[in-house]
Amino acid sequence: MCEQEIKNLPSIITIDGPAASGKSTVGNLIANKLGYISLDTGIMYRAVACQAIKEQIDVRDENAVSELAERVLIDILPTKEGDGRQFDVIINGHDASWEIRSPEVNAVVSEVSVYPRVRAAMTKLQREIGKHGKIVMIGRDIGTVVLPDAELKIYLEASVEVRTQRRYIEDLGRGKKVCLDEIADSLRHRDEIDSGRAIAPLKPAEDAVIIDSDNMTVYEVVEAIMRIIKNRG
Ligand code: CDP
Ligand code: CDP
Repeated sequence: MCEQEIKNLPSIITIDGPAASGKSTVGNLIANKLGYISLDTGIMYRAVACQAIKEQIDVRDENAVSELAERVLIDILPTKEGDGRQFDVIINGHDASWEIRSPEVNAVVSEVSVYPRVRAAMTKLQREIGKHGKIVMIGRDIGTVVLPDAELKIYLEASVEVRTQRRYIEDLGRGKKVCLDEIADSLRHRDEIDSGRAIAPLKPAEDAVIIDSDNMTVYEVVEAIMRIIKNRG
């Protein structure tokens, strides 16, 4: 398929879904194909959780975490490192690209993401970045809350068993010591909090296209989305 030939490209594409459903891998590939930028908003919530740990802020202290979210400087830049990272993530001037993926951050990021002021601060930044268009924005609430007028909304589904396998293989490839049960528990824990929170819970937008990717490779998902883009044009 020749991307130049697709008429009426959606200027904003949102990809939401649970952890390890393939959002960032697929979203970055779609963005590359279309010549768009991509923004994985999970990085921003991870950055807040990571910085809270670094500053020894109790993550249960809503005020302190909210104040941190309103002042922290997060840069997400194209990377030159060949160590498997998708972006360089700079928090208050320090590279935290791998720290934001640590088990410590995994354990608290969903708790931190429940706080209304944290969400408001991140949503504001995301809308700023999204307003220029030509973007694939990836997260949990992008189609429902952050950019509800997006022309194309994708919701990526996959069972917890398949997602656990995917994270397991990914972690092994990065040389991490991994345990299937721990990964499954961590995913379930985050799924539960992300889907159950009062503000901007994880759920498909009413006008989202839902793709169940349990039996699909990354490239099959990318092709499916490209077909949707083409047919819609
Ligand atoms: O990469 P993975 O899918 O494991 O997670 P992530 O996308 O990096 O997101 C980490 C956490 O940030 C999620 O579990 C949510 O708690 C939170 N998040 C959110 O609340 N809203 C978003 N738009 C993106 C992430
Ligand atoms: O961003 P999110 O947490 O939703 O998932 P990801 O980090 O993009 O994907 C997690 C892992 O699953 C990556 O290693 C992907 O290559 C892999 N994956 C897969 O094997 N098959 C898919 N259909 C989607 C993702």
